[in-house]
Amino acid sequence: DAADISKGTYPYYMLKEIDEQPAVMRRVVDAYLPADGSVAVNQSLLQALDQADKLYIVAAGTSYHAGLVGARIFEEMAGLPAEAYLASEFGYHMPLLAKHPLFLLLSQSGETADSREVLVNVKKQGYPVLTMTNTAGSTLSREADYTMLLHAGPEIAVASTKAYTAQIAVQAVLAKALGVFRKREVAKDFDLRHDLSIAAAGMQTLVDEKEQVKNLVAQYIPNQQHAFYIGRGEDYPLSLEAALKLKEVSYVHTEGFAAGELKHGTIALIEEDTPVMAFITDDVTAAHTRSNLQETEARGAHTMTIVSEHLAQPTDNIVLPDINPLLSALVGIIPAQLIAYYAALGKKLDVDKPRNLAKSVTVE
Ligand code: G6P
Repeated sequence: DAADISKGTYPYYMLKEIDEQPAVMRRVVDAYLPADGSVAVNQSLLQALDQADKLYIVAAGTSYHAGLVGARIFEEMAGLPAEAYLASEFGYHMPLLAKHPLFLLLSQSGETADSREVLVNVKKQGYPVLTMTNTAGSTLSREADYTMLLHAGPEIAVASTKAYTAQIAVQAVLAKALGVFRKREVAKDFDLRHDLSIAAAGMQTLVDEKEQVKNLVAQYIPNQQHAFYIGRGEDYPLSLEAALKLKEVSYVHTEGFAAGELKHGTIALIEEDTPVMAFITDDVTAAHTRSNLQETEARGAHTMTIVSEHLAQPTDNIVLPDINPLLSALVGIIPAQLIAYYAALGKKLDVDKPRNLAKSVTVE
C-alpha cells in the first residue's frame, strides 16, 4: 500500500529499507514458521526437493550473494548438495548437471533477464524450478513450478538490502522444512523461529547504533579510492555482498576477498591507509582472519573489525550480536549496508539511484 512506498521521514529509501529489516524477519516468521514448530512450505515442493540430488541456485547481483549463503544452509540442514551460480554465466556454460537437479531462482524483482534465460532453458529440459521472489505475479514467479515469497515489502532503492536478508531467511525456512521432511536431527534441532527473532533483535540493536557506524565511515572512507572486505567461511560470501554495497552506492572500488587468498596476490594493492574491513563471526577461522588482517596492517592498511560478541576483543570496532553461525550474514551485513549508505551520503551522491545502475535489469 501507499505507506509501504513512501519514504516517510527518511531522506533516502536505502536507509528506510535498512531499518525495516527487523520487521522483515518477523514477517518471514509469521508467513512460514507457526508457533507450533511446524514449517509452512508446500508439500509437493518438499517431495520434489527430496528427490533432487543437487540444488542449483541461480541468481544475479545481491541475490547471487544471498544464494552463496543459502547453499551452505541447504547442505548442512537438509543434506542436499547445493551450489550458487551467476545467472549470466550459467546461460552460456551450463555445467554438467546432476541426475535429478532442482533449480532455485532467487530474484528480488522476479524480472531479471539473465535469470529468466536460465529458467526458460531448464524448463525446456523438463527440470523442476522454484522461484524465490519479492514480487508476486512476476515473470519468474509465473513461469516456475513453485514460488516462495520473500515478504520484504517493496524495495525501492537500487541497492538491495532487505531483500538480501529476506532471501537468506526464506532459504533457511526451506532448508529447515526439507531437513525435517528428511527426518534429520540437525534440522529438528534448528529452531529457526527462535533464531530469526534473535536476528531481528540483533538487527534492531545495530540499526539503533548507526551513529557509531557513521563516525567510523568518517574516519575510514573519505579520500579513499580502494577498500577491502575480508572473511573466511561464512564470512567470505558476506564480504562479497558488503563490498558490492560499498562500491555500488559510494563508487569506492571495493573488493570482497577470502581472507586467506589475499596473500596470493591481492595484498600487493594495500597502501598506506587502504581500508581493510574484516568479518570475524566464525570460531574456527577467527584467529586466521585476524592474522590476515594484521598482515595488511603491517603494510599500512587502516583496519576495521566487525566481530561476533563471543569473539570480540576490546579493540574491535563493531560488535555483532551472537546468532546461529549459519545465519551470521543476517546481522553482519547491517553495518556494511550502513557503511555504504554513509559513505555515499558523505560524498553527496544520490544514494537511491547510483549512476549506471537499474533496479531490475531486463536485458541480457
Ligand atoms: C540489479 C540490481 C541489483 C540486484 C540484481 C538482481 O542489478 O541493481 O541490486 O541484486 O539486479 O536483481 P533481482 O531482482 O533478480 O534480485
